[in-house]
Amino acid sequence: MSGFVIARILHVLAVVLWIGGVGMVTTILLPAIRKSYPAAQRFAMFHTLEARFARQARITTAIAGLTGFYMTWRLDAWDRFRSADFWWMHAMALTWVLFTAMLFVIEPLFLERLLARRATSAPEATYRLVEWLHRLLLVVSLLTVAGAVAGSIGVNLFSW
Ligand code: HEM
Repeated sequence: MSGFVIARILHVLAVVLWIGGVGMVTTILLPAIRKSYPAAQRFAMFHTLEARFARQARITTAIAGLTGFYMTWRLDAWDRFRSADFWWMHAMALTWVLFTAMLFVIEPLFLERLLARRATSAPEATYRLVEWLHRLLLVVSLLTVAGAVAGSIGVNLFSW
């Protein structure tokens, strides 16, 4: 099996675990906590349960990024980033940058503390904000996956 095939398998497995996890957190975990806990306890509960996923997501985003750059290098496909037809390559890179920044920099350095503080003064609004942020990330991620699956076999999902 060639290095490219192994990288592609690892890339998709990492994306499945990572984006699947975002789907699970957004559509199951967040609504379940909303229904089961009073507003004042929701954020702390979510934070405790999500911490394990965040650790896993740091590993899967790193694998997706490394294998993605490796495939781009093997295909010598850097010029794709200069063409709007390859919007799905931009979408992959941007989604990856967004999650990497959130998981490695923004969340641990200040977002976590900011939200925890806000959750004590405005628990309902803070929880709603967390839910909307996750919905947004999930929609962007799924559009990226759809665009990449079609794009990698030469079909542009949004050509009309
Ligand atoms: C730095 C980030 C990334 C880079 C450089 C990258 C690069 C690539 C490359 C070069 C391919 C193969 C394209 C081809 O065969 O023509 C690919 C496939 C793919 N990537 Fe990424 N990727 C990155 C991140 C992501 C992210 C964040 C997602 C999902 C949210 C994603 C989902 C996919 C999917 C679903 C495929 C297609 C697999 C298939 O249908 O065989 N990638 N990626």
